[in-house]
Amino acid sequence: MTALLTVEGLRAGYEPGLDIVTGASLALAAGEVLALLGPNGAGKSTLVKALAGLVPVRAGRIRLDGADLGGLPTHARIACGLAYVPQSENVFATLSIRENLELAGFRLGRALRSRIDAVLSMFPDLVDRPERPAGRLSGGQRQMLAIAMALLGAPRVLMLDEPSAGLSPRLVAVVLARLDQVRAAGTGVLLVEQNVAAALDVADRAMVLVEGRERHVGPARALRGSPLLAELFLGAAA
Ligand SMILES: Nc1ncnc2c1ncn2[C@@H]1O[C@H](COP(=O)(O)OP(=O)(O)OP(=O)(O)O)[C@@H](O)[C@H]1O
Ligand SMILES: [Mg+2]
Repeated sequence: MTALLTVEGLRAGYEPGLDIVTGASLALAAGEVLALLGPNGAGKSTLVKALAGLVPVRAGRIRLDGADLGGLPTHARIACGLAYVPQSENVFATLSIRENLELAGFRLGRALRSRIDAVLSMFPDLVDRPERPAGRLSGGQRQMLAIAMALLGAPRVLMLDEPSAGLSPRLVAVVLARLDQVRAAGTGVLLVEQNVAAALDVADRAMVLVEGRERHVGPARALRGSPLLAELFLGAAA
């Protein structure tokens, strides 16, 4: 596998002297979906926030397509091709679908219109009524809008923090199925999910994070029904 994003020995946290990410490593290829799973409080959100430059990093390396992202501010990481969708409050509720996209892509200048058309073609659920306020969309449509906003700049890597949170089981499948188009465009996806079964259905590989570092990495298929999942998520004995 030729890795697009590589993370080695990452340590990161909020308070000085207290690491939440305790030496995590991962590799993500172009066009690959890597599910990032783990119990509550394992540090999944902190890991993606650290990759986005939103949480202080104490040690380790972050490389995107050979470029060292360590020490770069968030906007520079985005310019390098990294995109991040937070779990909540990831769209402007009072603005329309179109306005949200225009705001997210304002740096694209003349390319903006064609990029908006390109991302909307990936999310047919959004094209019907572009003048609808985002606050009036269903939870699934709102997550798709947030993902579409992140894709405007044609990122190399898309990081999603629990895009299925709060959605009905049917919508979870619909939203995650859209990641097939993202993958087909060659974008690597780091997918944080609590919805383990749905995440393993869409992911190529999965990584289980426990206490801030990887406990298991392997093909998503192999993890389905694995006793490791029961142990970690249900507290069953190993
Ligand atoms: N802003 C913050 N300031 C200080 N500590 C925080 C902050 N956010 C999270 N933490 C702590 O970091 C640890 C890991 O939290 P994190 O949100 O990364 O876990 P997670 O794996 O994403 O969990 P969940 O599945 O609940 O989303 C927790 O102990 C949490 O209390
Ligand atoms: Mg989280």
